Amino acid sequence: MSRTQVGIVGAGPAGLTLGQLLHREGIETIILEDRSRHYVEHRVRAGVLEQGTVDLLTELGVGERMRREGMVHHGIELRFGGRGHRIPLSDLTGGRAITLYGQQEVVKDLIAARLESGAPLLFEVDDVGLHGVEDDHPVIRYRHDGAEDELACDVIAGCDGYHGICRPSLPDGVLTVYEREYPHAWLGILADVAPSTEELIYCHSDRGFALHSMRSPEVSRLYLQVDPDEDIADWPDERIWEELQRRFDTEDGWTLRSGPTLEKGITPMRSVVAEPMQHGRLYLAGDAVHIVPPTGAKGLNLAVSDVRYLAAALVEWYRSGDDSGLQAYTATCLRRVWRAQHFSQWMTSMLHRPQHDPGGYERRLQLAQLEYVCSSGAAAASLAENYVGWEPSPIPSRA
Ligand code: APR
Ligand code: PHB
Repeated sequence: MSRTQVGIVGAGPAGLTLGQLLHREGIETIILEDRSRHYVEHRVRAGVLEQGTVDLLTELGVGERMRREGMVHHGIELRFGGRGHRIPLSDLTGGRAITLYGQQEVVKDLIAARLESGAPLLFEVDDVGLHGVEDDHPVIRYRHDGAEDELACDVIAGCDGYHGICRPSLPDGVLTVYEREYPHAWLGILADVAPSTEELIYCHSDRGFALHSMRSPEVSRLYLQVDPDEDIADWPDERIWEELQRRFDTEDGWTLRSGPTLEKGITPMRSVVAEPMQHGRLYLAGDAVHIVPPTGAKGLNLAVSDVRYLAAALVEWYRSGDDSGLQAYTATCLRRVWRAQHFSQWMTSMLHRPQHDPGGYERRLQLAQLEYVCSSGAAAASLAENYVGWEPSPIPSRA
């Protein structure tokens, strides 16, 4: 039997950031990850970091490569009706910006820092199981290198993503799950070609949504709305580029640069929140407990925000025995979680071609909303505030 203070399941952005936050406070952690290091470092995921995420990674000492290679953006384009409209994010938010830097690059930097610190991080761990979560002595059982081990912890952090084992290991009846399925999916490609735009383009078109993003001055990341049951085998590269060009087309003609495809895949879209985010000595964070559709670019940022609150509460508890931060963990996280839920579903419904729209009413509503956002300073500021990352402040009540 080994022992640690905080047992962390999952080495994604949530688990690794938590490990780093606790390590610098002298709190012992062990991180258990079921995939290989190569796998987690090469899995292509999201890429938009909010200002607060960038600031935290910098403060944690893992921001050096991000500062060098990340691309700071001060605006995004909304394109609809064949015209582009810029939302000046920084002008509308007192100078805040977003940084384009792939999630797997964040993961690589966090893993390098973890290994350098000498704190334990085990890859390719099998049969992870949680026990005694409702007692004061939780234990994680797992196999590693063919040997079984038991890890006694004060607290377990479930950071093992949507398909992990932590959330399902809670007894029936503890969680209330709120969810929405979308009749859309994203076909994403990574392409070895310079981006055709300086800023991200979120494009509404009668053929469906398209997004132009990027990873570097040489690598583009593009997405197409497709049906969830679409087969990637039916999408040879030429068909993808042709469809992207048609959706991004503008009145005055706009050319999309195409290039060799480095990676492609189809991802379903869903919204999920499981509440509470804690039970006994188990605290859930990130995708393990909530999912957003990618249209608002919030998933990674929310994962980081959860563990920032969790780390602060754990530090307070270890220092002074005060568990009020831990008790309040769910309530503290949920304000940002639900704001991001709303923003992500709002962006999704404004930009995606509806599955059923007899008579075109939904489409007209979308265009009315897009026009409003692009012509009202207040509406644009609201989008910008959410996009760069909303920080909850107390809700004023009537005196
Ligand atoms: N045991 C150990 N590790 C596990 C287990 C398990 N049983 N099941 C899953 N994992 C690992 C996964 O392999 C993954 O590396 O947990 C990690 C969870 O990482 P993410 O899925 O990246 O979740 P999170 O850290 O919450 O980050 C959320 O990921 O999906 C994106 O858009 C999402 O950007 C957001 C981010
Ligand atoms: C990405 O670059 O992968 C990306 C950008 C914006 C989104 C989603 C994904 O909304």
